[in-house]
Amino acid sequence: MKLTYSGKTAESTVISQAQTANLQKVRCYGRRCSNRVIKGENLQVMKALLDDVNVSGKVALVYIDPPFSTNAVYRHNGERTATISASHADDIAYADNLTGDAFLEFIRQRLILIRELMAPNGSIYFHIDCKIGHYIKVILDEVFGQVNFRSDITRIKCNPKNFDRYGYSNIKDMILFYSKSKDFIWNEPRGEFAEEDIHRLFRKVDKNGRRYTTTPLHAPGETKNGDTGKKWKGLLPPRGRHWRYGPDALDELDRNGLIEWSSTGNPRKIIYADEAAERGKRLQDIWEFKDEQYPCYPTAKNPKLLDQIVRTSSNPDDLVFDCFCGSGTTLLAAERRHRTWIGIDQSDIAIETAVGRLTSEIEETSLVENSGFVLYEQVDCRQDSAQSADVMIKESETDSYRKSSNKSKSRGRKVERPIKREKSSRKA
Ligand SMILES: C[S@@+](CC[C@H](N)C(=O)[O-])C[C@H]1O[C@@H](n2cnc3c(N)ncnc32)[C@H](O)[C@@H]1O
Repeated sequence: MKLTYSGKTAESTVISQAQTANLQKVRCYGRRCSNRVIKGENLQVMKALLDDVNVSGKVALVYIDPPFSTNAVYRHNGERTATISASHADDIAYADNLTGDAFLEFIRQRLILIRELMAPNGSIYFHIDCKIGHYIKVILDEVFGQVNFRSDITRIKCNPKNFDRYGYSNIKDMILFYSKSKDFIWNEPRGEFAEEDIHRLFRKVDKNGRRYTTTPLHAPGETKNGDTGKKWKGLLPPRGRHWRYGPDALDELDRNGLIEWSSTGNPRKIIYADEAAERGKRLQDIWEFKDEQYPCYPTAKNPKLLDQIVRTSSNPDDLVFDCFCGSGTTLLAAERRHRTWIGIDQSDIAIETAVGRLTSEIEETSLVENSGFVLYEQVDCRQDSAQSADVMIKESETDSYRKSSNKSKSRGRKVERPIKREKSSRKA
């Protein structure tokens, strides 16, 4: 299936004709130079990264939260940034003004370069809303293959709000999760069982007072020739089903008292509540991670959402990538989980906010932990020069933290205020 629209460029042309950004190092923060914040236009920056052997084909996890084609201008005010009720007097953080075909092609071109940067076992999480998200799903199918679609996650983002008098309140957006191949990084995420879940799901109590439930020992599908289709203890699996375990494993479960036999001779597997609680609950595809009402940057996402994605789909030291990084929420989550990371954004305010958050996160002395990052700037593509913030610091200041808190009066921004962060196992 393919989406047809005007202005759609051939894949090969997208890659060959994208301009290559000329990147200049602005400043090093701390000691870890593999982490990068890049101020620039992401298609051009990604084209440059395709030539970087440390990045090209090495990205394990991509999270992107691009503009949603809202035709809105997002403003920022250091005192109180509200995504939907900013004042015209506030600075422009970014404009989201591409719509229709132009928006779809803008996204598709970036997805093609992202795919080239990804490792064979990499994954991508695409955050979007339900107004345009279904078109994006078709484009993701095209670029990554329908077989590599993993989940459409519904994210509860806020308390109900309804801008139309007649219509359902909106509380969700969507995150489309794809992998590059069928072998992808997956650290099973587990949640906690609530007390009421335990009582609802584990209704039985054994003679020792342990709560438990039982589940069938058979599963759908007939086994033609294997052991799981044969009789066990004189019983065949029901029609159209097979035993979940081979006869030896079934014998062992029975010996260990983990099979409950009904009065009619039907065996079921015993699952104890305490053991299930220790393993944790498997997560479903509806997640509740509401965003702050007054975030540090318009449309900034909940850090806990990013933490869950980073933990699930990458491992320590893996490369995490966000080419619409805004205030750096993905980069912070990656830093906290000891991944390597790269973030790109073309907005001065975004880069300034991201740098402020990241430097705050990094310890004052990076001698113990190998933490830090390098700030780069695309020199051949300046956007919104009026807003070029004082975060673009002279190259002579490299390799040291700026000591002053340097709070901007106009935006109240926090730039480089190193504070303690969670303990790291990463050594210099
Ligand atoms: C929805 S915001 C991302 C917010 C981010 N997830 C956070 O938590 O702060 C989208 C960002 O994409 C950036 N952006 C849009 N088009 C871009 C482009 N072509 N290159 C680089 N950045 C771009 C905007 O400046 C904006 O900061």
